[in-house]
Amino acid sequence: MRRVILAGTGSGNPKKKVTNDDLTAFLDTSDEWIKTRTGISTRYLATDETVVDLCVRAAEDVLSSTGMTAEELELIIVASVTQDKIVPNTASEVQAALGAKNAICFDLNAACSGFLFAMSTACTYVSGGVVKNALVIGGEILSKIMDWSDRSTCVLFGDGAGAAILTAGEEQDTPGGDKDKRGIVGFRLGSDGAKGQVLLLENRPVINPYTGPVKEPVHYPYVHMEGQAVFKFAVSTVPRSISELLKETGTDINEVACFVLHQANLRIIHSVAKRLKVPDDRFMVNMDKYGNTSAASIPLALDEALKSGKAKKGDLIVIAGFGGGLTWGSMLIRL
Ligand code: ACO
Repeated sequence: MRRVILAGTGSGNPKKKVTNDDLTAFLDTSDEWIKTRTGISTRYLATDETVVDLCVRAAEDVLSSTGMTAEELELIIVASVTQDKIVPNTASEVQAALGAKNAICFDLNAACSGFLFAMSTACTYVSGGVVKNALVIGGEILSKIMDWSDRSTCVLFGDGAGAAILTAGEEQDTPGGDKDKRGIVGFRLGSDGAKGQVLLLENRPVINPYTGPVKEPVHYPYVHMEGQAVFKFAVSTVPRSISELLKETGTDINEVACFVLHQANLRIIHSVAKRLKVPDDRFMVNMDKYGNTSAASIPLALDEALKSGKAKKGDLIVIAGFGGGLTWGSMLIRL
């Protein structure tokens, strides 16, 4: 088993910034409602960018911050629910754009937990010696799956991409192991398919010469969310996942310098902080700028935490997420 080091992070955002006030031009909403209910002030929306463009931006950022070349990458995983194409997968298109010819490439869908699930997958490949360097990206253009007449969902989301590179460290007996050494100490993931209907985005129905007439209700190709059910799920599941991870790794919560959660709603972050009895200021917050970017939100927040100095080399941090599926997870990392 090899230790798995977080070598660096990167961000890739669309150029177009949209404020809450901008949304009032076509929606019955207000800056005050959005800010107080969610903590969101602005979001970036793609106008002429693709998901691949944003992912490549984030990938180039992390490659330049780590000093690694694209040819050194042996694995690329893109977590997304909004891929430009079904085939080829986004990771392969990112590979082509970067010239990362030595990488194996695939996409992964675990909604807003996608980055965490992709990180844990990449971690397993690296710790098992399958690959040495892995690029993990969460990239989304959620604006294309929003119903822009539904004020209860469209104000919440934004577009963007965030990336991280995991690299092989020294040999060790167990994955994770010594939490005083740099690397991924452990992770916990969970899923509950029985409750998945509270966050839905349906694919096209099967229509072929044998299916008969199209059935009612006609397919709704946008995100449908039962906001309060998702809220309750998040504030109960995330603290439990983090507490179990800390117990499993023998970590006192006060050793954790920074918590980087999926950026869905500021009230969710405050509630998680309260339940864990941790001051709010140990939680990274940047949903005010980006909104909820689904699989991109954790790497975008992690990148900002590292670049702003909120999380520093040597710190122990937790990244944690929750989302459609339902899915959730947390990961403990020594930077
Ligand atoms: N502007 C103004 N009013 C609005 C808006 C809006 N954009 N949206 C809803 N309202 C109104 C509603 O119509 C309702 O009006 P009514 O009382 O007259 O019926 C009122 O505001 C309250 O609506 P609620 O849905 O009860 O508001 P709530 O306080 O629950 O906040 C929210 C809604 C922000 C969606 C909250 O439930 C939430 O954050 N849930 C979690 C969602 C989440 O985290 N999703 C992402 C996780 S998974 C993933 O990231 C894909």
